[in-house]
Amino acid sequence: MSTVVAPPAPPARDGTPTPGLRWSGVVVATAAAVPVALVAALASGAVDPLLIGDSGPVTRYGIVLTRALHDVSAALTVGLLLVAAFLTPESRTSVRRETAARTAAGAAVVWTVTAAAGMVLAFADAAGMPVSSPGFWSLLVENAVPLELTRLLLIEAGLALLLIPAAGAARTRGALAWTFLLSLAALVPLSLSGHASGTEGHEQAMTALMFHLVGISLWVGGLLAIVLLRPHLGRALEVTVRRYSTVALWCYVAVAGSGVLFSLLQVEEAADLLSAYWLLVWGKVAALVVLGAFGVVQRRRILAGGLARPGAFARLALTELAVMGATVGLAVALSRTPPPVEQSAQGDPVLELTGYPAPPPLEASSWLTVWQVNWLFLPAAVLAVTLYLVGVRRLRARGDHWPVGRTVCWVLGWAVFVYATNGAPGVYGRVMFSMHMVMHMALMMFIPILLVPGAAITLALRALRPRRDRTLGPREIVLAVVHSRWAAVVANPVVAAVIFFGSLVAFYWTGLFEWALTSHEGHVFMVVHFTLSGYAFVWSLVGTDPGPRKWTPPLRLVVLFATLALHAFFGLSIMTGTWLLAPGFFKAIDLPYVPDLLADQQLGGTIAWGIGEMPTLALALMVAVSWARSDQREARRSDRRADRDGDAELEAYNARLAALAARDPARKEQP
Ligand code: HEM
Repeated sequence: MSTVVAPPAPPARDGTPTPGLRWSGVVVATAAAVPVALVAALASGAVDPLLIGDSGPVTRYGIVLTRALHDVSAALTVGLLLVAAFLTPESRTSVRRETAARTAAGAAVVWTVTAAAGMVLAFADAAGMPVSSPGFWSLLVENAVPLELTRLLLIEAGLALLLIPAAGAARTRGALAWTFLLSLAALVPLSLSGHASGTEGHEQAMTALMFHLVGISLWVGGLLAIVLLRPHLGRALEVTVRRYSTVALWCYVAVAGSGVLFSLLQVEEAADLLSAYWLLVWGKVAALVVLGAFGVVQRRRILAGGLARPGAFARLALTELAVMGATVGLAVALSRTPPPVEQSAQGDPVLELTGYPAPPPLEASSWLTVWQVNWLFLPAAVLAVTLYLVGVRRLRARGDHWPVGRTVCWVLGWAVFVYATNGAPGVYGRVMFSMHMVMHMALMMFIPILLVPGAAITLALRALRPRRDRTLGPREIVLAVVHSRWAAVVANPVVAAVIFFGSLVAFYWTGLFEWALTSHEGHVFMVVHFTLSGYAFVWSLVGTDPGPRKWTPPLRLVVLFATLALHAFFGLSIMTGTWLLAPGFFKAIDLPYVPDLLADQQLGGTIAWGIGEMPTLALALMVAVSWARSDQREARRSDRRADRDGDAELEAYNARLAALAARDPARKEQP
């Protein structure tokens, strides 16, 4: 979103990679955070002493300063890795990537230290004990892991710590891309803590905060990184800023949407909109509008002719960064300001354990009328369908054909996904075993059988424009994944079948099922894992996209029937089983309209067994059709070859037969 005027680049350095971190990363991360912290301190009453359980000035001020340092250093680390891995082209001396990676390692040092310090101060704050009080540290050591808040911050500090050597040593595109992914993963624990972990709607709040933090880190961190790397970018500045501008646009939408979603969860009555919490939110909304206006101007400038005028870069980028910095300051204050909505479960076990109030008793109409928007899976489905349709339109625009059937399958597949995760199966699946099984079977069998024929990988490779400067763009990433050793292993029918069936056993006969019922990350893991393992299994049998070599149809049919025989056995074992799965959870929620938990579970077994058969049939038909088609293709191929070489193969065969006959002594004796 920001434009840059490129002063003449300084001469490139000799390019010998020097491992380790660059201290400028540390300096910038720290310097940029101070004004942010100041805004936060001034804007929030959180630094005021508490009447009861005050943790002392060190903690009160320390938390705000540490958080500001944390947010800025995290954003800078992510931004530098984004630029290095995906935005800036390779230079002959590859100084750019190395500089970005080493600076990211420096910023990751600040991230690690502030995450660890934040954990200590968060504990002091929660315990209402000054850090200096006797017994504080032993208490901290004792509770750091059991307490969710400190445990999450500890995980974050650990991931940030890993980033230091990873970024310090990463030089190749692949290594930088994996380090970038690690930096995004390190943002997740924070989004699972704080105000997001209140009670009602906490899953939505966690999803919103995750999108928010990732969006801000890419947007703010990306711009900060470009400013920092400008002396090294030289003529690559233009293309780097152009690519950043597209990323920034997506981030703007993500930050606005997630910010609004999170804030709306903190409103119960109109008066809340004038609470201290909301006044900070309004400040952020205003900042976002200003940043949006900036963005429109910059984008127009970039599209109108690039980044020619000297000096404009520093002015524009610094102004925008100043607004962003102030907004992060407001955000830190917001995270320290109590929200206006009550954050307790008011004694409702379903709300306490699932984060949602108990749905009404299940009736026939509920299948169509009961919905709970899931702000992770619904946007994911909308995005998957939108990108697919944009791809089809791009192909059509250049006159290429794309079978309508594929588009229909893809859209239908995602429609079923939205229903399974936002409709009755998704809502009741959180509290009833039978409905959970409906959702599970939809994710693992129905949806993949619709999505795979959509041939999304083929569409992506045909619609996405290739990059010509050896950088990792969307198309290059798809290609890298499809041709990776990992894909070859997972797309092997036997491996896919083992994952498909093995997941069932591992999920229901370990604590994973209860984890998925009682935690946001567990629920997300379950939905993503079952959809992907189903997709990999179906793809290994009937996928048409480019990728690892396919097994012959007969072998694929064998794998299919073997797997689904096991699947039927799984269904039967639950159908006839007399032990309860996740007994603690189902007994605790004690739904009045599910009086017999075992009967409901056995119904789930019947559903798993029953529902499993239909997709089996469909898959077997699809393999048979692909068998017939591959035979036809083979026949056409050998016909074309015979036409081309006068049927040399048949000639050779006949010649071999004649030679055999000639050598056959019995024939020699015949008159
Ligand atoms: C529509 C505009 C926006 C709204 C409604 C909004 C709302 C929010 C809310 C409700 C939170 C969670 C605070 C809490 O823990 O209770 C948050 C966190 C955050 N926001 Fe925004 N935001 C907006 C725009 C922005 C922008 C433009 C930036 C930065 C450029 C930003 C930076 C942040 C950061 C860094 C956090 C995490 C703070 C922390 O926990 O350390 N937000 N935002």
